[in-house]
Amino acid sequence: MKTYSVTFLPDEKTVQAAAGKSILEAAIVAGIPINSVCGGEGVCGKCRVHVKSGKVEAEPNGFLTRREIQRGVALACHTYIHGDVVVEVPLESRISGLPQLASEDAIRFGRISERVGEGAAFAHDPLAGREYLELPEPSITDNIADQERLYRELSLRREIPSMQMGLAILQKLPELLRESGWKVTALVGYRGGTTEVVEIEPGDTSARHLGIALDVGTTTVVAHLVDLRSSETLATKAKYNSQISLGDDVISRIMYSKTAERLKQLRDLIVNDINDLITGLVMDAKAKFHDVAYIVCAGNTTMVHLLLGLNPANIRREPYVPCAATPPVIRAAEIGIKINPRGLLLALPCVSSYVGGDVVADVLVTGMTDSTDLSLLIDLGTNGELVIGNAEWLVCCSASAGPSFEGGGITCGMRATTGAIEHISLLPDGKIAEYSVVGGGKPVGICGSGLIDAIAELLRIGCIDRRGRFVRDECGHRLRESETGEREFIIFSGKATALGKDIVLTEPDISNLIHSKGSIYMAAECLMAHVDMTFDDLKHIYIAGGFGNYLDIERAVEIGLLPDVDRSRFHFVGNGSVQGAKMALLSRDALNYLQVRIAGAMTDFELSSDHKYMNEYSSCLFLPHTNIEKFPSLRGKYGKATEEGAGTSA
Ligand code: FES
Repeated sequence: MKTYSVTFLPDEKTVQAAAGKSILEAAIVAGIPINSVCGGEGVCGKCRVHVKSGKVEAEPNGFLTRREIQRGVALACHTYIHGDVVVEVPLESRISGLPQLASEDAIRFGRISERVGEGAAFAHDPLAGREYLELPEPSITDNIADQERLYRELSLRREIPSMQMGLAILQKLPELLRESGWKVTALVGYRGGTTEVVEIEPGDTSARHLGIALDVGTTTVVAHLVDLRSSETLATKAKYNSQISLGDDVISRIMYSKTAERLKQLRDLIVNDINDLITGLVMDAKAKFHDVAYIVCAGNTTMVHLLLGLNPANIRREPYVPCAATPPVIRAAEIGIKINPRGLLLALPCVSSYVGGDVVADVLVTGMTDSTDLSLLIDLGTNGELVIGNAEWLVCCSASAGPSFEGGGITCGMRATTGAIEHISLLPDGKIAEYSVVGGGKPVGICGSGLIDAIAELLRIGCIDRRGRFVRDECGHRLRESETGEREFIIFSGKATALGKDIVLTEPDISNLIHSKGSIYMAAECLMAHVDMTFDDLKHIYIAGGFGNYLDIERAVEIGLLPDVDRSRFHFVGNGSVQGAKMALLSRDALNYLQVRIAGAMTDFELSSDHKYMNEYSSCLFLPHTNIEKFPSLRGKYGKATEEGAGTSA
């Protein structure tokens, strides 16, 4: 097959691509991270590139104006290579920067150090242990086998009801014991109800005893290197999940993974990300890969499938059945993860196709199952997962929120990384009163929390109505018509932005966010109705997910994302996924509790079959809701708009 060279600027990276391949496919091979929110389906318009020279063929699309096409602007996913080409990837089309790391301090209740350890709820008993053993030499009166001698000594140190050893270790055991003078370190790991002797090393290597807690998110991957003896977190790292280049949400990734080759491609991307993070952690802590004995990972059901190379196809087909809810403990090396070659990896159990181990971890971290107080947990991301319950019962559901909370489907949207407007407030005339940008400096775009702020503010000053439509008289000169004929509000003019381009908000942007917030609010309301309760019955509402930390609760209520209850009931969890993984890593008690009392006790409520969800969803597509009585604290602010029938066109 004929191949052509594709050069990407400004990186000056050249790869060979077969004739007819898309520019996006060539970029993936070149390792150039291009935004592709829709996974190359041609429906997000985020993968714009500039073809500087060479022969390409572009499929028609509704995102580019004639002038842009004449200038060489193209969608990378639907532009195909038919000659040697040079392509420039502009800053706004790149996945760049590092995700914000949620601070451990964001957990304002039951920090891990208070929940695992002496006198705490869960005993300190890590899933992996290193025991230095000085074995008595065999004699004619004590001539039991080498393996049993080792087991005997081990069981004097720790309670191990059942032990096993792999053949590879057993084969080298006799020589190793004798050459080391019967002084060895046994690395043991918890594996599905038994304890495995994972590795035997000569001498005393017990001081180097590390594990990794991992949050494998759809958007970000976060890893903590943990000293299993002291429980101390030695280093933390985060990066964007490289699978983003093949789709922003779990559905687009499942759709992409339809062949074995593509499934492997997705697995390789996430495994490389994890290996990058581990390399950084090990270097920061001046440790060795060999010292890392165990990984506990938490992720949504699809991400765990993709990591383990399990086919996720049935997750999106009715009746939504995953391949495994509780995958077996595996050797990390089996999937190419670089720690101790015999180190183990455990994925926290999922509840259903759309409620994964990350949510189970959130519940563990909040401690919401410690008392009879009723709590609601909302994990916000491209998918929203909700859990209600207490010490006696738990019910969960999930709702697709769409990508807008993470900047997807928004004209100037971006993730919460350097350059993103994270908070903003407006003066009555629409000018900026205050704003903050992640990492400081001039803004590049707007992330989910900034978007919620902006919409709440536009509503407050009367610039949009409760349907999210611009009110021409109130917006003044900041409202204009775009090249594609849409009305757009200029938040920042190009002079004040990092890219020299205006940062705008269009009516479709506002509509996308309204659909996302409506989906989450409706899911919460249906879950409450399902258990025959109301929001007033809740003692606590926990907000989890990377986006959650930066959310302004008041504004989230004002747009109708969160219920209008006493604000003191809301608590931010931070990254509950990685914290829960860490608790399980450090305590077999905590893992057991998580498996039996949380994942095992949680009932899944399928929203797609709930009539209320289907019938009443459209009532949530207003700011904050068609029925202002559901938001009593806002009645004075927006009550007049209701009387004027702002919500009548549902
Ligand atoms: S339009 Fe190209 S990735 Fe979405």
